[in-house]
Amino acid sequence: MMAGFASDFRDGVDINLGVGYVNEDTIPADRIRVAFDEVLDNTDRYRQTLNYGGPTGSQVLIDSIRCFLIDNAIGGLDADTLGRKEIIIGPNGASSLLESLAYVLPKGIVITADPMYYIYTDFLVRNGFELLTVPEDAEGLQTELLAAKIAALGPRADEIRMFYVVTVNNPSCVILSNARRRELVDIAGELSGRLGRKAPVIFDRAYEDLIHDPQVEAPQSALRYDPEEIVYEVGTLSKVLAPALRIGYMIGAGGAFLRAMVQRTSDAGFSAPQITQSLSSWLLDHQIVAQLRSVRAGYRGKALAVRAWIDERLGDGIENVSGGQAGFYFYLTFRDIETHEESDFFKYLTRTTGRPDIDGAPGARNPRVIYIPGEHCVNRNGELADVGRRQLRLSYGFEGLEAIDRAIELMQQAAAYARESA
Ligand SMILES: Cc1ncc(COP(=O)(O)O)c(C=O)c1O
Repeated sequence: MMAGFASDFRDGVDINLGVGYVNEDTIPADRIRVAFDEVLDNTDRYRQTLNYGGPTGSQVLIDSIRCFLIDNAIGGLDADTLGRKEIIIGPNGASSLLESLAYVLPKGIVITADPMYYIYTDFLVRNGFELLTVPEDAEGLQTELLAAKIAALGPRADEIRMFYVVTVNNPSCVILSNARRRELVDIAGELSGRLGRKAPVIFDRAYEDLIHDPQVEAPQSALRYDPEEIVYEVGTLSKVLAPALRIGYMIGAGGAFLRAMVQRTSDAGFSAPQITQSLSSWLLDHQIVAQLRSVRAGYRGKALAVRAWIDERLGDGIENVSGGQAGFYFYLTFRDIETHEESDFFKYLTRTTGRPDIDGAPGARNPRVIYIPGEHCVNRNGELADVGRRQLRLSYGFEGLEAIDRAIELMQQAAAYARESA
């Protein structure tokens, strides 16, 4: 869907609320330029920065990530806890570490929240894994439901390979509460004990550094209470520095599992290019505090403006809105308007209604708006399959406010068109 749209996307005309790209203004290009000089001039610290690296990651970057987490008490992590954990760098962002999990773990059942990070869960399914999805509420994956679903599996619980939970969920931007985190780890620990092997819990913290609502309780990393050593966190510098650095990292207890992940990185052509690891190390050491402040402030402002437009123009037709406290997505549930690719709402916004007064003349198509239909985000075999047809993910990351303002106006028109056509 996105590929088709991207091929004839018209900058300044069409509006892309679909992509998970960060806002270009948040990328510290001038600091990255400085970092290049610093890194290339300081070969004692940033060794062999234009050569091959290794499968674990460059030590300067690993040290910088460790300091970043400890100095800023990210997730409440301290030197003591992190001293007991290892950090590895993936070949190509957090995505590549997630991909590696599918190589390292035997095929079986993956437990995740619904709606889900469909890019990864689709990949898992294509690679022979089965999803067991647990609907989330305002606190994230519902652990009571999770326990019931595991019990209902009976002996098939033996096929559970991992729990994969996005702490600020994509698409919904619902923040997993600390209580739920703990319950999740308890459930996975209890299951691991019963199975006589570890069922790892992978917390994907891609957007956790982007919590911009000051009212949100500070997330507590589950690495702090992990007696069974089943907790792993996957993080990325994409959302707070620059996706092009392609730096994703994984933290957890050393052992056979992490060694297998490192082997997989080696097989994939080593961890991320040394040069971007060195640049990232420098940026973490010199820039990250100011960077986090400005990125969070930027998305905070946008979240408030976009939420006001959603309420004002789409409010009547909306049953639920999540997001706006972290990351850069809102996830909308309409009362009666369908959003899937065959819907009138979608057709209006992609200018494929077949009506020239809406679509525009051939060769001069009216402005289009792209979003991610909910049907792609929910487990089509799960409880949310029906409601997913009335949901959508709207990103306020990539586009500027002026364009988003226009896009929500067009969504208001699309909603009116969908109602008239019903
Ligand atoms: C939930 C989630 N995990 C991981 C990633 C991938 O991050 P990276 O750019 O480090 O591959 C994304 C990117 O959008 C994401 O949304």
